[in-house]
Amino acid sequence: MCMPQSVRKAVIPAAGLGTRFLPITSAVPKPLLPVIDRPLIHYAVAELAAAGIHDIAMVLSPGFEAVAGYFEPNQTLMGALEERGDEERLAQLKAINDMAEITVIEQTEARGLGHAILMARNFIGDEPFAVLLPDDLIWSAAPAIAQLLGVSEEHGGSVLAAKRVAREAIPSLGIIDADPMGNDVHRVRGLIEKPSIEEAPSDLAIIGRYILTPGVFDRIEHGPAGALGEIQVTDAIAAAIGVEPVHACEFEGDHIDAGTPPGLFAANVYEERRRAMAS
Ligand code: UTP
Repeated sequence: MCMPQSVRKAVIPAAGLGTRFLPITSAVPKPLLPVIDRPLIHYAVAELAAAGIHDIAMVLSPGFEAVAGYFEPNQTLMGALEERGDEERLAQLKAINDMAEITVIEQTEARGLGHAILMARNFIGDEPFAVLLPDDLIWSAAPAIAQLLGVSEEHGGSVLAAKRVAREAIPSLGIIDADPMGNDVHRVRGLIEKPSIEEAPSDLAIIGRYILTPGVFDRIEHGPAGALGEIQVTDAIAAAIGVEPVHACEFEGDHIDAGTPPGLFAANVYEERRRAMAS
């Protein structure tokens, strides 16, 4: 997509502890876990690049810079491929190096998603920006983040990705109270993090894609710390309702939360089948 757009920058928060993947995440950062032959972080950056966003901040835990290193040229490997005349693999690696301009930002303590986003305040400055969580994989004709960009171009303000989920999933997700406006867009009235099934206002859950306005930084900073002392972004977005437009976009595409071992396994199966069908 090459249309001029108001959202030029993105943040990929990737500094969580990854406790659900222990013990592997004690040595390998979760964003480097593979779906077939590329790490989760690859799919995240590729989606942003496909939506025309190439200026990307990765929020990482100290010592886990290898996540950004994946996008740096590996001279030894490239030299060896050149010598062998393996143009195809060489081109594949070069394409990865050219996908985006990456800035690494450290989050020294895992104090929650809101806190991770806050770390990127200076990088973003005073403009709307995208946030993409690498655990949430979405396969779609138009990149999911581009679908959200379309909603933000039309309505302004903040936009969240949304998906209808099974009742049992509700207590572990952020749930949206909203009025449908047609075309899979909803005007958001309220957001509630991990409600019980009884108190949930709907089955519409927040999925890890957002377009946020710079006002979110003050709202994160001045909002209360939520469960486990973690600073949530959901509360900061909820605080914007009534102040600026907040919409949910029920995106087109297949979503898998690869943030758990069964989820990552399902993502591998999906991707392998997709590639087999495409070949
Ligand atoms: P999760 O809630 O999945 O937490 O974070 P986690 O730490 O990654 O995994 P578990 O729960 O310990 O298994 C959602 C997203 O927010 C990022 C994570 O990297 C993930 O992309 N995150 C979370 C941060 O960047 N920093 C934090 O302090 C917390």
